[in-house]
Amino acid sequence: MTKRKNLFSIAHDHFHGLMLAQMIKKDGQVLEGMPSTVDEKVRFTIHFHEQEFINHFYIEENILLPLVKSYTHKVDKHLEKMVKEHNEINELVNSLKDKDDLKMKLDKIGRKLETHVQMEEWILFPAIQDALDDEELKKLAKELEENGYENIYKY
Ligand SMILES: [Fe+2]
Ligand SMILES: [Fe+2]
Repeated sequence: MTKRKNLFSIAHDHFHGLMLAQMIKKDGQVLEGMPSTVDEKVRFTIHFHEQEFINHFYIEENILLPLVKSYTHKVDKHLEKMVKEHNEINELVNSLKDKDDLKMKLDKIGRKLETHVQMEEWILFPAIQDALDDEELKKLAKELEENGYENIYKY
């Protein structure tokens, strides 16, 4: 048990997600050189969603999820939560096209992003690590890496 305790590290994309969350949340920090007005933040969020989230969610839902499910059903409820939250984030980002309540929507996206990353990093990934054996984890890490998702499981 101790041997496998710290096998995973934070996914690279998740750092970006957390930074975006800080930038767009109502009480988030002002980050130097980053968008500061509501309009700039909206444009940045939509761009970021297109450039990073869509691919990131695709890999989690189409590579990580089926592979994990082929090994175990112990984490199904976390995987379902993951997909549900992706859909909620997508819907929230799409709602930015309607110009009403932009500040409130940005705040909601920031909070949702933060709790989503925390759920994956603190609950889902450790649960996968506990449920899979070393060989299965290696295969998962390799598949993720080959698809551009930073290796979250260290060997
Ligand atoms: Fe996710
Ligand atoms: Fe993720």
